[in-house]
Amino acid sequence: MRTALISDIHANLEAFEVVLSDIRDRGVDRIVCLGDVIGYGPDPCACIDLVQEHCEFSLLGNHDFACLLEPTNFNPIAAEGSYWTREQFEPTGEDLDKSSTARRQAFLHLMRTHAILDGDPDYLLVHASPRKPLSEYLFPEDVDNAAKLAAAFGPMPGRFAFVGHTHVPGVFAAELDQSRTVSVDSLFEFEYANELEGPFELDTLDGRLRFIVNPGSVGQPRDGDPRASYAILDRSSENPRILFRRLEYPAERTCEKIRREPRLADRLGTRLLTGE
Ligand SMILES: [Fe+2]
Repeated sequence: MRTALISDIHANLEAFEVVLSDIRDRGVDRIVCLGDVIGYGPDPCACIDLVQEHCEFSLLGNHDFACLLEPTNFNPIAAEGSYWTREQFEPTGEDLDKSSTARRQAFLHLMRTHAILDGDPDYLLVHASPRKPLSEYLFPEDVDNAAKLAAAFGPMPGRFAFVGHTHVPGVFAAELDQSRTVSVDSLFEFEYANELEGPFELDTLDGRLRFIVNPGSVGQPRDGDPRASYAILDRSSENPRILFRRLEYPAERTCEKIRREPRLADRLGTRLLTGE
């Protein structure tokens, strides 16, 4: 079973279409989305529609939550983007297709905060972190913060978790302590996806390692590489493998759409050109 893991589309239709095309070419069995389908970008309705059409399910991200309910702890640019996005889902215009509006709203309401893939507890999926599925950022530099990572890994029911949220693709590894749990005595590492030569093997050895995998962001990468990011999970061998993919897309087109919408800050478009 090969599963495409996508996350943080952020209403970037140009990036999402390129990713979907690549997924089709690679013959994966299914697509799952780790959340933040909307927020920041100019095409929330089209992106929700494509997720509904192509993904087995989508988790709830903090930006989906913000548009559905209200933004919490958002900076002014992100908050205003959320209010604008929310209005795109409201049946206010004369010529709006009311059934599409209702369908999109229902889809947002049904998003879950976490999932266990195929009922296998080794595969936990959340938007942000196992400890705080909606809000906790797990940054690469957190490998120096054992207390934070130990607490974040703690609620994992099995060996692997898959998260988005930071928009930085890569893999955290934790080596269990002497009592065979993840604690402040564990050793933590982070491998950047862009520094990998090939697929990353989730080496289960004798059960001493736990992994948290981030496929990166489809629609707003933040690791200094502006290409759209996603990953393919291949569980066909004894050790599961993660293939990270990076894809060029016409970011200047998305940037121009954002520039034309006065309530979306220009910075939301220009950052797409540099991946910052
Ligand atoms: Fe996000």
